[in-house]
Amino acid sequence: MSAQSKTRRITAPEIRARKGGEPVVCLTAYDAPMARLLDPHCDLLLVGDSVGMVVHGLDSTIGVTLEMMILHGQAVMRGAKRALVAVDMPFGSYERSPQQAFDNAARIMSETGCQAIKIESGTYAAETIDFMAQRSIPVIGHIGLRPQAALAEGGFKAKGRTDVERQRVIDEAAATADAGAFAIVIEGVAEDLAREITQTVSVPTIGIGASAACDGQILVTPDMLGVFEWTPKFVKRYDNMAERTDAAVALYAQEVRNRSFPAGEQVYNLVRKDG
Ligand code: KIV
Repeated sequence: MSAQSKTRRITAPEIRARKGGEPVVCLTAYDAPMARLLDPHCDLLLVGDSVGMVVHGLDSTIGVTLEMMILHGQAVMRGAKRALVAVDMPFGSYERSPQQAFDNAARIMSETGCQAIKIESGTYAAETIDFMAQRSIPVIGHIGLRPQAALAEGGFKAKGRTDVERQRVIDEAAATADAGAFAIVIEGVAEDLAREITQTVSVPTIGIGASAACDGQILVTPDMLGVFEWTPKFVKRYDNMAERTDAAVALYAQEVRNRSFPAGEQVYNLVRKDG
């Protein structure tokens, strides 16, 4: 038996089959140790291009490169053994043509071993999703608030406030599902719109700031763990890692300054035991 066949990962068809059933639990992941911690609890881990903002300190996701996504994708694949791992395609890596998208998606999949890719899917992306899905690339779409469009749209704004905008999000959902995506992330829309889309499309909807009306949920992990002072209003903080890290590091610094030995056990004792 090969090392690979011992691990049973959740597949894209299994996520697809969860439509209207048990909610799909998703979080973002960017490195191996955190992926290992999230894996037992999650059905899907997304190596989001939010990595640019929450790990690399960029102001938006626009500066994220294919190489960054591949590097973080490889790390997450080493840490996660059970969850489906999807990797985001960064800005500029899929919009030019279906062929460009296929080439870069194939590169991400072969260099990371991930099970799926995600693209932000305005209606223009339907042809690209169809092209990739027909060629065996499992695709997740992303509609509503599309972070890669934030500069063009004047910021990270909720979508569907006007009738025209509402219809645009409904059209994005239909185009994404009809083109062959196996799931759709819906970001930053009101509950009634998320519910209408979820009841209409044939694939699971994964909400972020889009209410519990969706078939599953995703959050940016450092946001829900309380790593940052500011998080979007819709995010529930399940921990306060910023404060706890500050307290732990302050204690360590105090112990070093007091010359109280900062290791768990004196090296001398360890040497004596082992020797
Ligand atoms: O990049 C990301 O983390 C995402 C989530 C917001 C879904 O796309």
